[in-house]
Amino acid sequence: MDFTKSKPEQLVFPKGFAFGAASAAHQIEGGTWNNNWSAFENFIRPDGASGIRTGETCGLAADHWSLFPSDVLLMQDLGLGIYRFSIEWSRIEPQEGRFDDGALITYRNWCKQLREAGIQPMVTLHHFSEPIWFSEKGGFEKKENIAFFEQFVRFVVPALSDFVDYWITINEPEVFSVMGWMLGEFPPGKTEPHTMAMVMENILLAHARAYHLIHELDKLDADGDGVACQVSIAKNILLFDPKSRWNPADRYLSNLMNRLYNEAILEALQSGVFQLSMPGQFDQKSYLPELANTLDFIGLNHYTRSLIRFNPFKQPPFTMHTDPRFETNDMGWEIWAQSFYDALMLVRTLNLPIWVTENGICDNETPDKRRVAFLGDSLYALQEAIRDGADVRGYIHWSVMDNFEWAHGFQPRFGLFRVDYTSQSRTLTEGGKLYKSVIEKQKNVSSTNFRADTV
Ligand code: BGC
Repeated sequence: MDFTKSKPEQLVFPKGFAFGAASAAHQIEGGTWNNNWSAFENFIRPDGASGIRTGETCGLAADHWSLFPSDVLLMQDLGLGIYRFSIEWSRIEPQEGRFDDGALITYRNWCKQLREAGIQPMVTLHHFSEPIWFSEKGGFEKKENIAFFEQFVRFVVPALSDFVDYWITINEPEVFSVMGWMLGEFPPGKTEPHTMAMVMENILLAHARAYHLIHELDKLDADGDGVACQVSIAKNILLFDPKSRWNPADRYLSNLMNRLYNEAILEALQSGVFQLSMPGQFDQKSYLPELANTLDFIGLNHYTRSLIRFNPFKQPPFTMHTDPRFETNDMGWEIWAQSFYDALMLVRTLNLPIWVTENGICDNETPDKRRVAFLGDSLYALQEAIRDGADVRGYIHWSVMDNFEWAHGFQPRFGLFRVDYTSQSRTLTEGGKLYKSVIEKQKNVSSTNFRADTV
């Protein structure tokens, strides 16, 4: 389908469809100096580069910690119905076993302020960052360390349960483990495929434990829909295609990547059967009964698609490419809304409600023309996926404001609001203006004309 013919003013979504935006603690709060990511700023890579490739430090970031009240007003003005953010474990438990009530109260107040502004909070419990003391114990490399995460969950959930109904246990288990233990791009900067597979199993198990705990601890229905809590992970779906469809090796490898990165994880979350093997790299198999059926909905994070070319001189034996016909974002990722549609159709096979928990683009140009086009096309692809049967309940854009893009520092700008890091002022981008107008228009749309309207 050609999604570039989008006319955003004609988009129609089902009645009650939620529009939101997302963030993560370490990326915007500022002052998160006690976690694995701040430690990674001092990490020296084999090529001499710093853990943060630009040599930047996260520092005050967008100072969301202090500016939360005014940021909520901005979100309200944008028309957001839901805000996804994460709780910084290193604030809550700065030292092993020492829990900080003050930090918890701050997050509780955030949830309260959001509710008062008519914005539903969606809370992520682990978004790539964890306390230094936890990493020093081996983090999720060790199964026995999952118990520490459980303690954190036990402390946080009851304190927020009267405001929060939507919980994301773990953000992107596959990005966390592949980037940290296979590609060495995230802390701890390791390139050990077999450890990566172990971490993947452990973090999924951590999800499973948190899933059951949240159901035990959150019995309060905050939004009055009769359901006390809904729990999921945010699954990054990166789709792979062969660079040349005539090359059997490209085809084999792209199929294998789809299997390992996408399908194997989704299957494990439904059946409890975890199976991750790549010849010569890793081979991890187990049956984890507590992991079975631990999704109340599926959180989908989607950004791009990648083309795989077999390369026997690389380890693993392939390189990743984009299609030269398509534009790319500032991180070199292909912009092609069809892949968003395809990702939605893939998660649809789970037969669960779908929340798009992240989708966005980094565009540092002014005006941000690519963000405008990306948003229009992506929302069109989303509308069509819904029309074709995907049960999508809401779209949460990444990100509410510019932020610290992990190993790439502050250069990539994903925000609906552009942040001036000197003055800490926020300016609505052109993409943000488009989003605001789409949200505004949906308020007047009813579910009956949803199926009748066409773009
Ligand atoms: C992560 C975000 C990140 C975004 C853009 C997602 O994988 O959850 O934290 O900023 O992608 O790279």
